[in-house]
Formats: sequence, C-alpha cells, structure tokens
Amino acid sequence: MMFRWRATKKLLPLLAGMALLLSACGRADLSALNPQGPVAKQQFELMMVAVGIMTLVVVVVFAILLYVLVRYRRRKGDNTIPMQVEGNHKLEIIWTVIPVVLLTILAVPTVGAVAKLSEDYWEDPNALQVKVTAHQYWWEFEYPQYGITTMQELIVPTDRKIAFELVAADVKHSFWIPAIGGKMDTNTGLTNRMYLEFPNEGVYRGKCAELCGPSHAYMDFKAKAVAPASFERWVAAMKGPAKLPEDPELRDTFVSKCLSCHAVGDQGASGGPNLTGIGSRLTIGGILYNDTPENEWVVDPAITEKNLRTWITDPQSVKPGNMMPSAEQLQLTQEQIDGIAKYLAGYTLDY
Ligand code: CUA
Repeated sequence: MMFRWRATKKLLPLLAGMALLLSACGRADLSALNPQGPVAKQQFELMMVAVGIMTLVVVVVFAILLYVLVRYRRRKGDNTIPMQVEGNHKLEIIWTVIPVVLLTILAVPTVGAVAKLSEDYWEDPNALQVKVTAHQYWWEFEYPQYGITTMQELIVPTDRKIAFELVAADVKHSFWIPAIGGKMDTNTGLTNRMYLEFPNEGVYRGKCAELCGPSHAYMDFKAKAVAPASFERWVAAMKGPAKLPEDPELRDTFVSKCLSCHAVGDQGASGGPNLTGIGSRLTIGGILYNDTPENEWVVDPAITEKNLRTWITDPQSVKPGNMMPSAEQLQLTQEQIDGIAKYLAGYTLDY
C-alpha cells in the first residue's frame, strides 16, 4: 500500500501538468470543444451525450466494483472457500438490456443530427457555394456564383449558410474547421457536400485531417467570417483588374516566372495557388503568420514581406514536398526575390 501511494505521489506532477495542458484545449478559433457555430454546437452536444452516458457507466461499474471489493474481501482468520456460484439469468438479462437501452438513448439524437447535418444546400439560392479543392498541401476555394477563386484563406459572410463541394486534386485530404464544424474527406473523382454556418465574425483555423504526405501537419488554412457588406466588397476587389508590378523589368520576371503557375486577378494560370490580394492574407503558405502575438489577426506588411521572402527563396524548407520550385531552380536573383516579395506584400484588397 505504502509503495502504491509513493508511486501515485510521483505521478501527481504529471497529472497536474496534464490537467493544465488539457484545460488550455479550448481556443475559440480552433477547438471543437468550444463551438462557434450551430453545426459545431450540434456536434459538440452529441459528444456530450456520449461522454455523459460513458461517464455514468464508468461511475456505476466502479461503484459496484468498489462495493464488492470492500464488502466481500477475505476477513482475517477466515480460510473457508466462499460459496461457488455460476450463471444468473436475471443478472444476465439486466446487463444485456442496459447497453441496449443506453445505445438507443445515444442513437436517437445521433441519427437525427446526422440527417440534419447532411442536408444539401448546394442548390439553395440563399446559400453561398464554395467549391473546395484540396491539393498537396494547400486549399483552393472557388466561388462559382461569383466567378472568383482564392486559396488558403476562405472568406465567408456571416448571414448565410455556406454550401461546400469538396474534392481533391491529388490524394485524399480532409476538410476541417474544428470550431465551426466538419470534418469531411476530399477525394479524387468523388464529390462530397456539406454545409457550415459562421454566425460570428472572426478568424477560425482550418486543418487537413487526413494524413496526405510529409507536409500534412502544415496543411492549414484560415476561415475568415466577415459582415455581409464586407464580403461584397471583398468579392468586388477580387474581381477587379490584376495589379502587376510597376517596374517593367520586375513585371516581366513576375509574369514569366510566377504567372506560369499562379494567377493574379484575370492574369496567369490556374495550376498553382491564386495570389490575388495575397498581401491581405493572414498567412503565407498557410503556416507563416503575418501577424504578431500582440496584434492577433492584424496583418503586418513587414512580416508578410519577410515571410514571402522565406517562402520564395526555399519553399521546401517551410513545407517539405510541396510543388513550388525554389528561387535557385527558378533562377531568381536576390534582387528579384526582394522585389517580388515587396510587390506581393503590397498587393492588398480593401474590404
Ligand atoms: Cu492534406 Cu493532410
């Protein structure tokens, strides 16, 4: 007994540490345990029903176990063999019926929620359509109703349902915004649909939730929910004419080296991530943050420029296995790297 207490005492700091760590798992922009929309809220409530039932089972089973351990332990000096019993129809029926009852209690809200959450709003004229294409290791967001495409940063209005159509360009990925809802797989050759709602303005962290290669863990995106008027301004700005570098030499370099894969506005190609308004985005490559801890989600142009330089110089050092060639492979000089980073950091959208 003494030994066991000593072992427990040794584990106490670890347990305290874990309690502290787990209590921090509630970020409003990231945690499924801190839901920020009706879809996530319903999913959270389902989890709570399941956790509640499981807790009840554990408490009851352990209470019975403890009672039996104490009540029927061997008394001092008693060396008789207890009465040997086996089989008890009544008990067996009870502990078969109880799980059936518990599973039924769990099934009713689960089936109801699954049916509700799988409703398809794609054809609903009041919903915003977003076609999500997952690539190794970035996210493309196309808005077919508006004819615009962006990447890594999903901009949505707070006033309507967002109907998603999910596909993958290469391997299987999974689309997940923990605080808002999800997740759902993206596949090649198969389209999945789901809807989400973002009632509160703010930035939410999105994740790829399916192991898809060496940079799976870096395949993040941001969902930014904005007021409806702000969303309309963003759409108009996205549709505006492309802003190319003013310096003719830099413009030629940018067009020949970058726009063979990327697009800005109506210029360029659609193979790689769309760069329109990249200077307004909260991250470069989804994981190099353009804000400071003091001013969360406020883009700092100097940091954006630095992140762009880092990314353009050697994208593989940030996200191993991505398709973007390095500056060396593209034969970009330091001056060209600096020029392109400065130009892109300054390519902002006013919304
Ligand atoms: Cu894409 Cu993991």
